[in-house]
Amino acid sequence: MTKERPPKKEALRIGHRGACGHAPENTLRSIAQAVALGCDLIEVDVQRTKDGHLVLIHDARVDRTTNGKGLVAEMNLEDLRKLDAGGGQKIPTLEEALEAATGRIGLILEVKAEGLAYDLCSIVRASGFTGPILFASFLHDELQHLRRADPEARIMVLLKRPPKDPTAEAARLQATHVGLRFDTATKPLVTTLHKARLTVFVYTVNKPKDIQRMRALGVDGIISDYPDRI
Ligand code: G3P
Ligand code: CA
Repeated sequence: MTKERPPKKEALRIGHRGACGHAPENTLRSIAQAVALGCDLIEVDVQRTKDGHLVLIHDARVDRTTNGKGLVAEMNLEDLRKLDAGGGQKIPTLEEALEAATGRIGLILEVKAEGLAYDLCSIVRASGFTGPILFASFLHDELQHLRRADPEARIMVLLKRPPKDPTAEAARLQATHVGLRFDTATKPLVTTLHKARLTVFVYTVNKPKDIQRMRALGVDGIISDYPDRI
């Protein structure tokens, strides 16, 4: 398990879903755009189809981001692939995303549904992906499964609101990273997490004044829809 924080003077630039706000989120075009922008990592969201494929889509339903309607978990891959995820882009499989990113950009793979952890790990392993991979989730049980599946994995515990003892939560989950909602990040909290040798990322930071504040806090990575502003 890696416990070292990156020796970076600058915070990592991390594209969020659809880097730069122009490419449709969670598509191969958004990955290409993040590469073109020189992001260190791109954050994408993973769900499972009815027939067991892992795909990149944020919501449990396809309604907001495609021209279709329905639950991802109730649709087969073949049906999902007929949908337009924006600008003619298709919903990518995890395998396609890994292929698009390997050797070009690191990935933050956010687990959005329960029961994905073992398949996620084995697909990443089988892909031979080169570059940093970080597994993230608000579903902390999934993070425990990921840790069991891969004792060396970089794992980011996502927190909507920091619990009383955020280092205890990270230790319980054997996380290497903590992802804070940017408006909950404070200097004492970042210092506490750093003292516990945790890497601190903040999401989702779009306004220049908020980006400035995050820099001043000394966070290690800034997740943004506009990584060109970082
Ligand atoms: O990486 C954290 C961030 O992506 C979580 O929020 O809703 O945009 O997936 P959301
Ligand atoms: Ca996400």
